[in-house]
Amino acid sequence: MNYKKKILVTGGAGFIGSHVVRLFVNKYPDYQIVNLDVLTYAGNLANLKDIEVAPNYRFVKMDIVDAESITNLFQFEKFTDVIHLAAESHVDRSITNPTEFVMTNVIGTVNLLNAAKLIWKGEMEKHRFYHVSTDEVYGSLGETGLFTEQTAYDPHSPYSASKASSDHFVRAYGDTYGLQTVISNCSNNYGSYQFPEKLLPLFINNIQNKKALPVYGKGENIRDWLWVEDHARAIDVLFHKAMSGSTYNIGGHNEWTNIALIKLLCKIMDKKLGRSEGESEKLISYVTDRAGHDLRYAIDSTKLQNELGWTPSLQFEEGLEKTVDWYLENKEWLENVTSGDYQKYYEKQYEKR
Ligand code: NAD
Ligand code: TYD
Repeated sequence: MNYKKKILVTGGAGFIGSHVVRLFVNKYPDYQIVNLDVLTYAGNLANLKDIEVAPNYRFVKMDIVDAESITNLFQFEKFTDVIHLAAESHVDRSITNPTEFVMTNVIGTVNLLNAAKLIWKGEMEKHRFYHVSTDEVYGSLGETGLFTEQTAYDPHSPYSASKASSDHFVRAYGDTYGLQTVISNCSNNYGSYQFPEKLLPLFINNIQNKKALPVYGKGENIRDWLWVEDHARAIDVLFHKAMSGSTYNIGGHNEWTNIALIKLLCKIMDKKLGRSEGESEKLISYVTDRAGHDLRYAIDSTKLQNELGWTPSLQFEEGLEKTVDWYLENKEWLENVTSGDYQKYYEKQYEKR
């Protein structure tokens, strides 16, 4: 079949990437979607079981840090566009091993940019490089205000510093070589297929197993939560409609202190598991705070909403219940990803807190 576009999606076996791949494969049968992923601990092909045999889907196992393989792949496959999500994504891991974040998030991104620049030379205007980034590049807010697209970058963790750096490289390749870029900075995502090192799936798993819930500091930090499928919908809209060289914030206007969110989660889980009210809350354990812990993230996504008409589709309470249901119904997925190395990570991460 002659496909209209051949899109390389990097990191498609991860949490957000798998939702983006699923959306594009199902919605655009006239696009070929090539999912490139090295399958780190966070990458899991089981996240894409439902679409793995679709005729317009293919998987390539490759490391974006390997410049030569990436260049060869681009020359051979002649992708029309790139949606780049592959990254090391967990702040706590970036504190333990920052160099790995520089390699994947910075060097890996530059390798993709170089390969795109090489094969699209002379016809840049026909192709698009979409870079998926985070609101964490903007740093931390006080009690008021929101991150806009004009907020100055002020990253504090090695993770956010590496994402900020990759954003700068993407913009620089647009300005210097004429690469047609789009960058989006999104707030915290939640939903199915998220690796249980991040707050919500970790706590859902621990509540189920009656394990302690390690709340960092006093639980007063604030995050702005967006349903992952709404993020994927925003990426779809922006990939097709954003002006080249533009940046958009994506967020749900949905701020929660960690402790309020955890208490709501405990309440939902008590109901779903048939436990008496208040039982799961007893598992809350306040532990040593994360180093450099950003106090508050909150996104102003007015530009995306006003210019392109995107709005979040789900109310948070509904989305959270849906998410809990998914993890309870997919025990095997959870068991598979929490076996093996996960145990070692968990002990190392939490034993001294
Ligand atoms: P994730 O950790 O769940 O998935 C990352 C994927 O990238 C995995 O499949 C992994 O195998 C792959 N990968 C890692 N290193 C690679 C390498 N060297 N070569 C090829 N593949 C590699 O991450 P996520 O939460 O799905 O985040 C996806 C993107 O969205 C990231 O760029 C992240 O910065 C950004 N983001 C995440 C959030 C969030 O709340 N999770 C919010 C905003 C932006
Ligand atoms: P996380 O899911 O790691 O996302 P991010 O740090 O990228 O926002 O954490 C969300 C919030 O939850 C953050 O303020 C840190 C806090 N947190 C805990 O209190 N305990 C935990 O065990 C984890 C993983 C996170």
